[in-house]
Order: sequence, then C-alpha cells, then structure tokens
Amino acid sequence: MLDGKRIILGISGGIAAYKAAILVRLLVKAGAEVRVVMTPFAKNFITPLTLSTLSKNSVLSEFYKADSGDWNSHVDLGLWADAFVIAPATANTMAKAAHAVADNLLITTYLSARCPVFFAPAMDLDMFRHPAVCHNIELLKSRGNHIIDAETGELASGLDGKGRMAEPETIVQTLSEFFNPKQTLNAKVLLTAGPTYEAIDPVRFIGNRSSGKMGYAIAEALAECGAHVTIVSGPVSVSVKNQKIKVIRVESAQEMFEASAKIFPNCDIAVFTAAVADYSPQFPANQKIKKSEQSLNLVLKKNPDIAAELGKLKSDTQISVGFALETENEIENAKSKISSKNFDFIVLNSLNDAGAGFGTDTNKVKIIDKHNTILDIELKSKQELAQDIVDVLCEHFNRQK
Ligand code: PMT
Repeated sequence: MLDGKRIILGISGGIAAYKAAILVRLLVKAGAEVRVVMTPFAKNFITPLTLSTLSKNSVLSEFYKADSGDWNSHVDLGLWADAFVIAPATANTMAKAAHAVADNLLITTYLSARCPVFFAPAMDLDMFRHPAVCHNIELLKSRGNHIIDAETGELASGLDGKGRMAEPETIVQTLSEFFNPKQTLNAKVLLTAGPTYEAIDPVRFIGNRSSGKMGYAIAEALAECGAHVTIVSGPVSVSVKNQKIKVIRVESAQEMFEASAKIFPNCDIAVFTAAVADYSPQFPANQKIKKSEQSLNLVLKKNPDIAAELGKLKSDTQISVGFALETENEIENAKSKISSKNFDFIVLNSLNDAGAGFGTDTNKVKIIDKHNTILDIELKSKQELAQDIVDVLCEHFNRQK
C-alpha cells in the first residue's frame, strides 16, 4: 500500500498523541519508512522510546543534540519525505503552521518540506469550531495542505462532539489512496461467476466447488472503478455489496451460456471466472431416481464452451479475460486456452498452490497475456488480488481507447 514511501510523522501535544504508536505501527506494516518529529510538549503524552522502537528510527524533537551540539537538520528531513503527516494536529500547531511561527522542529520541518502535507486535527469540540481554528484550517487548505477530517464521538473532556482525531486506519487509508489513486473504467462488463449445477434428477446434480468469491470480488473492484457490471452467476452464497452491480442467477452451463450471449454483444469487457461444467447428463430424470440397481450409468453430453463461443463473436474493441484452474502443465495449458478461447489474457490459478483456487479466501495467480508475458502475483486475499487484476484490465482498456 505504501511500499517504500518515506513518511514523516509529526506529533503535536494533545491526548490523541497516544494513538501515534498505532499509527507508526500501521505505516510500517504498510511498507513505509517512518521518521517521527515531536513537539517538546507531545513527549508528555507518549515517549520517544516507544516511537523510535516502532519506527526503527531516532525520534527528533530538539533543534540540536545538547551533548554534541549537532544540528538536527529540518531541511534534510523536509526534502527526504514523500509525505508529512501531522497527527494529532493541535490548534496550536495548526496556528503556527498557518502563520510560520517556527519555534519548534516540527514547524521548521513543515516550512522546509516540499512534499504533500496532511493534518489530522484533534481537539475539544468548542476549540474545533472556534472561528480562529476554522480560519487557520481554511488557510492551510487554501495553500494545498490536506486535512484528514476529525471524527465525531466521545472526547477526552467527557463531552461528545466533533474533534476526535481520525483513527490511525483512516489516516493510513487516506495516504494509501493518495499514493495509489483508483483508476477509472468507463466500461460495460459481463462477468461469469460461481459453479454450474447440471441436473441428474430434480434432487441431484453434477457441480463443483466454486464459491463465487473470486468472481464477486472482481465484480466489486470493477464497480469501484466506475464500470457497469453484470454478473451471470451460478448458485453461490456470496452476495454483492455494491448495489449497482446487476446479478443474473442461473444454474446450468446452458443457462449461463444463454444469459451471457444476450449481454456479450453490448459489453466492452468479458471476464470468465465461472467454473463451468464441461458435461451434463443427457437425459435428466423428471422424477427422483430410485435406488434399485447396483450401479447407475449416466450418459453425459458436452456443454457449450461459453468463453470459446463468445470468443468467436468478439470484436477488435472488446477485451476478454479468462481463468484457468490447472493441476499439471499449468502454464502451457493456460497459454493454449488464450488462443483457443480468444482471450486477451488469462488468470492462471493452480490447485497445487496452498491457499489458491476453490472456496478459499485467498488466491495466488499468474496473469499471462497474448504475448506470453507473465505477471506473478503472490498469495493474497481475493479482494486484494481482484484489485490487481482490475488494475491490469484498466491499463489495457484505457490504453486501447
Ligand atoms: O469461486 P471461487 O471458490 O472463488 O474459486 C475461483 C475459481 C477457482 C473458480 C476461479 O479462480 C477459476 O479458476 N475459474 C475458472 C475455472 C475453470 O473452469 O477453468 P477452466 O480451465 O476449466 O476454463 C477456462 C476458461 O473457460 C474459464 O475462464 C472458464 O470460465 C471458461 N469456460 C470453461 C468451460 C465452459 N464450458 N465454458 C467456459 O466459459
């Protein structure tokens, strides 16, 4: 999320400073390198030792080291950072920042910084709505500083209102969104998901272990980027969170084919995540089959290959993404599906990888394109992986436009 980003955390003297320990921890966990600058007063609320241990860097607070006389360079620090987060930002610190009152290292660093600056205000509700404080916040905003808005709730004074510092998770999320802005995808997307059930009789079916988690996660990530998504879904227990996603429920491969074929001509992108049964009973019984014989033979007929059939109709401007679930000769098998089903790229998951494939909350894949370029993605949650897949799709689609 924040891999390799260099972040200065400025801590000013308010009770919310105790949350700075969690904030440092989360920033480091997100991959950032963190250096902490504290106002002298902030040290009353949290110790430099805690923060230096968590950040793995010395904490700066004074203009110079008293024993050696060495200068703590606010200029170097200001130039080093990719972002400067001041959390908590007290009324005092914001006033000093707005009016260049450079009487501590945090403010001199702020005035020297060339990177984006984020203030996370924290104070009591009456202070927070005071015209002087509001004016300073507006002044800071008008100069391009970012304000991570305070939250409403119980305050240290015992009063209830707006003034609580944003939670550390929210601050990290704000930084992450700043550094990784979401791509936009103005596209109509058809996505198949889940298993298909092929009826043997009114009670039994041939199915598989697909839960729909991978497909639904991709649908959510696509919708987040602005795409208009229709899922043609086999029987699953997962549901969509984003109500803009349209879901068409089907059971069999034939029904999935018919529903998809109606949508495909008007879509820009098709994503085939479904685990479609390749065969179905040729003569499903109308009544429940009774147990009588020692064995039962089922005649199976081939189902339509949805991706391959629609691949034949694909225009030059449409993009088609397939999935391959393999157990052997994985890369070769996946590559041959790219050409046989006219995919632009294929996402390969292997049942040989622990935590990958059916039913799990995680997956580990290789994305292979038409030119045989392979992108390896390590084991991660299906939600995170969905975002990676959608990033690749956005880049491809937006480049082609
Ligand atoms: O649902 P989850 O539990 O989260 O699991 C996710 C998943 C493992 C099902 C998913 O990641 C996945 O791999 N889906 C495709 C599984 C599969 O059927 O692969 P395949 O190699 O048999 O098919 C290749 C491609 O052709 C797939 O895009 C498939 O949707 C499509 N296909 C296959 C057969 C068929 N009759 N019609 C099709 O459209």
